[in-house]
Amino acid sequence: MDTMTEMTPVTDATAAATAPAKKAVPDAQTVTEVRHWTDRLFSFRCTRPASLRFRSGEFVMIGLMQTDPKSGKEKPLLRAYSIASPSWDEELEFYSIKVQDGPLTSRLQHIQPGDEIVLRPKPVGTLVHDALLPGKRIWFFATGTGFAPFASLLREPQTYEDYDEVIITHTCREAAELHYGAELIEGLKTDELLNEVIGEGFWKKIKYYPTTTREESPKMGRITDLMRSGEAFRDLGVDPINPDTDRAMICGNLAFNLELKAMLEEYGLEEGANSDPKQYVVEKAFLD
Ligand SMILES: Cc1cc2nc3c(=O)[nH]c(=O)nc-3n(C[C@H](O)[C@H](O)[C@H](O)COP(=O)(O)OP(=O)(O)OC[C@H]3O[C@@H](n4cnc5c(N)ncnc54)[C@H](O)[C@@H]3O)c2cc1C
Ligand SMILES: NC(=O)c1ccc[n+]([C@@H]2O[C@H](COP(=O)([O-])OP(=O)(O)OC[C@H]3O[C@@H](n4cnc5c(N)ncnc54)[C@H](OP(=O)(O)O)[C@@H]3O)[C@@H](O)[C@H]2O)c1
Repeated sequence: MDTMTEMTPVTDATAAATAPAKKAVPDAQTVTEVRHWTDRLFSFRCTRPASLRFRSGEFVMIGLMQTDPKSGKEKPLLRAYSIASPSWDEELEFYSIKVQDGPLTSRLQHIQPGDEIVLRPKPVGTLVHDALLPGKRIWFFATGTGFAPFASLLREPQTYEDYDEVIITHTCREAAELHYGAELIEGLKTDELLNEVIGEGFWKKIKYYPTTTREESPKMGRITDLMRSGEAFRDLGVDPINPDTDRAMICGNLAFNLELKAMLEEYGLEEGANSDPKQYVVEKAFLD
C-alpha cells in the first residue's frame, strides 16, 4: 500500500483546529492485513518505509507505543522480529507468537488493518546468503516461529539461483502450527514473479519436511532425532549432509539451535558470519 495515498488532506480548517491532536508515532507503519493461524500464532502485513533496504532473512525491531509508568510519557516497546517477506516485496510481513502475558504480544495480537506499529528501519542478522559459501544444497531448519526468516528466504529468487536443491524442515508441537508455512510453500507454485524470474517449476527444487511432536500428523518427531536415525534422509530421498555440498541455516528455540549446531559440526560444517562466510549460520527465534 502506498502511504502517500492514505494521507487525506485536511480541507476543513475549523475541523482541523478543533480535532484532538493525534499523537505522533515515531517510525510508524500502517497495518494492512492480519491473519490468525491458531490461538498462539498470527501473521500480519504492514507498509514498508520507502528507505528500508534489507536482505531476505534479516530481522528488525518492531513494537507499539506504551505509556511509561514513571514519567507518564509515551515511548515505544520494541522486540526483535524476523521479516517474513522477501526483500523485493513492497510491503512487510511478520509471523508472530501470541504470549498471553507478554508485554508486546499480549497487545500486538489485537492489531487490525489501519492501526499503526513502530518499526525501526535498521535490519540486521546472520540468516543471509552472504554469510554462506557457495554450495549445491541448502537446508533451512526451523521450529515454531523460527519459520519466519525462511518465509522470506523461500520467496527470495537468490535462494534458487544459488542452490540446486532447497530443503525446509519445520518442527512444531501441533499440526495447526504448521499451516502458515505449508500455505506459503504451496503458494510458491503459482507465484507469478518467482516463476517468471527463476523459471516455471522452480518450486520443484524445494523439499518440505514438516513434523509435529505432540499431536498426530503424517510425520512425527523432532527433526534432530529423525536425522540421527537416518529416517529424515530416507524420507526425503537425499544423501546425508556433506560439508562439500551442503549449506544450512538454523532458526528455533535455544535447545534446538544448540543440538542442531552440534550435529552439523559433527557432519563437518563450520559456522559462518556476515564477515566470514562458511557452511552454516544460526539465529535464535526468541530469547529463553
Ligand atoms: C533475533 C530474534 C528474532 C525474532 N523474531 C521473531 C519473529 O519473527 N516472530 C516472533 O513471534 N517472535 C520473534 N522473536 C521473539 C520476539 O522478539 C518477542 O520475544 C516476542 O514477540 C514476544 O514478545 P513479548 O513482549 O510478548 O514477550 P517476551 O517478554 O519477549 O517473551 C516472553 C516469553 O515468551 C516466550 N516467547 C517469546 N517469543 C516467542 C516465540 N517467537 N515463540 C515461542 N515462544 C516465545 C519466551 O519463553 C519468552 O521468555 C525474535 C527474537 C529474536 C531474538
Ligand atoms: N506450542 C504450544 O501449544 C504451547 C502452548 C502453551 C504454551 N507454550 C509455551 O510457549 C513456549 C514456546 O513453545 P513453542 O511450541 O512455540 O516452541 P518450543 O517449545 O520451542 O517447541 C517447538 C518445537 O521444537 C521442538 N524442540 C524443542 N527442543 C528441541 C530440540 N532440542 N531439538 C529438536 N526439536 C526441539 C519441540 O519438540 P518437543 O515437543 O519434543 O519439545 C517442538 O516441536 C514454551 O515455553 C511453551 O511452554 C506452548
